Amino acid sequence: MQFEKTVCTSVQQTLRLAEEFAKNLQGGDVVLLTGELGAGKTHFVKGMARALGVEDVVTSPTFALHNSYQGSTFTLNHFDFYRIQAEEAEILGLNEFFFDKSGVCAVEWWQNVKPLLPKRCIEVLLEKQGDSRVVTIKERLSTSKV
Ligand SMILES: Nc1ncnc2c1ncn2[C@@H]1O[C@H](COP(=O)(O)OP(=O)(O)OP(=O)(O)O)[C@@H](O)[C@H]1O
Ligand SMILES: [Mg+2]
Repeated sequence: MQFEKTVCTSVQQTLRLAEEFAKNLQGGDVVLLTGELGAGKTHFVKGMARALGVEDVVTSPTFALHNSYQGSTFTLNHFDFYRIQAEEAEILGLNEFFFDKSGVCAVEWWQNVKPLLPKRCIEVLLEKQGDSRVVTIKERLSTSKV
């Protein structure tokens, strides 16, 4: 993966980086967004949606837990697990989307559903630095045996 550490000094730059990043995604990819409240996770997903040919406006799934957008190549499944834990997500069957090859997943607050995630994910870390965001993208291989 060629995007190591990038400083995005504006929302537009974050959207553009996310768009470039998402051009390389393949069906079944699971993207984990890491960062504090307001770090820009949802904005990053908005940028991803552009590359995937999603025409709908991407909004935060904080209350819906899961929003699904039809793209030209893949479905974009956007999750926010801030309010729930793994057991509840599993009862709702949300983990099944992580293994669906016809879609791409973007997951906010994935730390709450760690045992449900596939072994190989892509992690996007967003760190606030004033109005800038330092974005680090790397592969994340789970060491969990679950
Ligand atoms: N360089 C930047 N990149 C992204 N967002 C930025 C940047 N600079 C400022 N912002 C602002 O930071 C906020 C990011 O909000 P966003 O909803 O994307 O965060 P989030 O990480 O999804 O938060 P939450 O954990 O509450 O879901 C927005 O208000 C946006 O305008
Ligand atoms: Mg968000």
